[in-house]
Amino acid sequence: MVTQLPPRPQTPQLLRVLKLIFRPLDYLEDYQKQYGDIFAVGKSKTPLVYVNHPQGIQEIFNADKTLFKSGAGVGFVGFLLGGNSLVALEGERHQRERKLLTPPFHGERLRNYSQLICDITRQVTEPLEKGKPFLVRPIMQEITLKVILEAVFGVTSGERYTKLQNLLGSMLEFFNSPRNAAIIFFSSLQQDWGNWSPWGRFLRLKEKVDQLIYEEIRERRKQGNFSGSDILTLLMLATDEEGNPMTDEELHDELITLLIAGHETTASSLTWALYWIHYLPEVEEKLRFQLSNLGENASLEDIAKLPYLNAVCCETLRIYPVIVSAFFRVLQSPFDLMGYHFEPGTAFIPSIYLVHHREDIYPNPKQFKPERFLERQFSPYEYLPFGGGIRRCIGMELARLEMKLVIASILSQFQLQLLNNRPLKPVRRGLTVAPPNNFKMMLR
Ligand code: HEM
Repeated sequence: MVTQLPPRPQTPQLLRVLKLIFRPLDYLEDYQKQYGDIFAVGKSKTPLVYVNHPQGIQEIFNADKTLFKSGAGVGFVGFLLGGNSLVALEGERHQRERKLLTPPFHGERLRNYSQLICDITRQVTEPLEKGKPFLVRPIMQEITLKVILEAVFGVTSGERYTKLQNLLGSMLEFFNSPRNAAIIFFSSLQQDWGNWSPWGRFLRLKEKVDQLIYEEIRERRKQGNFSGSDILTLLMLATDEEGNPMTDEELHDELITLLIAGHETTASSLTWALYWIHYLPEVEEKLRFQLSNLGENASLEDIAKLPYLNAVCCETLRIYPVIVSAFFRVLQSPFDLMGYHFEPGTAFIPSIYLVHHREDIYPNPKQFKPERFLERQFSPYEYLPFGGGIRRCIGMELARLEMKLVIASILSQFQLQLLNNRPLKPVRRGLTVAPPNNFKMMLR
């Protein structure tokens, strides 16, 4: 067993972080080219270790539950979502809360959202006019936000929901420029100088969002009507082992987590999917062919099962996964991985993007080729857009269903086209990597 740490870049920290913010994919690819399957950043004995080999990722995801702490409850994520959010919880409580939150996103409950997803897509895209370019992202975001609002609160209309929708949109829009995203990485920039400062503006938006969520919780408690099947009702009925219900603060943290995690990522992925489908005419042609072959009596379940549609969604999430790295896994006791020995405190980062771009798993990785997913099956350590192990994305099935049904609804309703044939380059958007905000399309 080698005792030294994996290779580390010598780049000064400030330059490294700036590259991570402004050129997040080059940051990963450049180091991977130089250092290979595993590399470390940071000077201490307990660095951040990027792992982009399936074997290493398998060992991390399958390790004993107590070996790592993986709750992203510190820094910006902790501040945005709160310490009681699923993403911040650890151990027993994390497992208990996951058990509670999993059923609404699976099986029959999930299938019940199918019609709603198609209806919302139609309603949101209805005002689009022929020949008039439109920004793709806001449309996708409106669809995915409405879907998650319905799942979380059981309703999508009313004054509070319109307000919540607008404020959440503005709050997340705030990080769409890499410049504002830098505030997340440099806490010294988090200065509240009122509405004039970017951080001040963000804080005020967040305050208003929090207020609306608390209002809804209080109103539901007052009404005392817990017959709905939405997630807020479910959480309000849940009790811990001593029989205590969740506090307002705990409810708030969980709801805002689902609202944010549940629509940002799916909206970016849908935007990418529409780009690829129309950037490559053969992809659109094959998709349309498969959809038209279904016939008039096809159910939404039949659509969701279409192999080529599924392959297009998988390839979209492979080539530009919106979350490029899974959550940090912070080591709690000594551990050996891929020929190296690590001390407690080391943080492992399973690199989703780098694994998805390995030539040995995905030949010509820069090429968008849905057929890969028809030709072979990939292991959960080779294909991991939703992470893995005990932290795997809880909304994975909803996101996959949503992507398929929104694409199918849009293709069956409209003929779209790109405004030009220039390749679209991914950009940083807060903690995610997404299509540029100004990406437009047009009805043919
Ligand atoms: C295309 C859409 C989505 C992508 C690419 C995505 C990706 C991810 C990734 C990579 C993780 C981290 C997993 C890990 O570290 O192993 C994650 C966690 C999570 N996601 Fe998603 N996600 C998407 C949609 C959703 C939706 C629709 C919801 C909500 C309903 C959601 C809720 C969550 C939550 C709550 C966690 C934290 C799980 C935990 O800590 O146990 N995500 N997601």
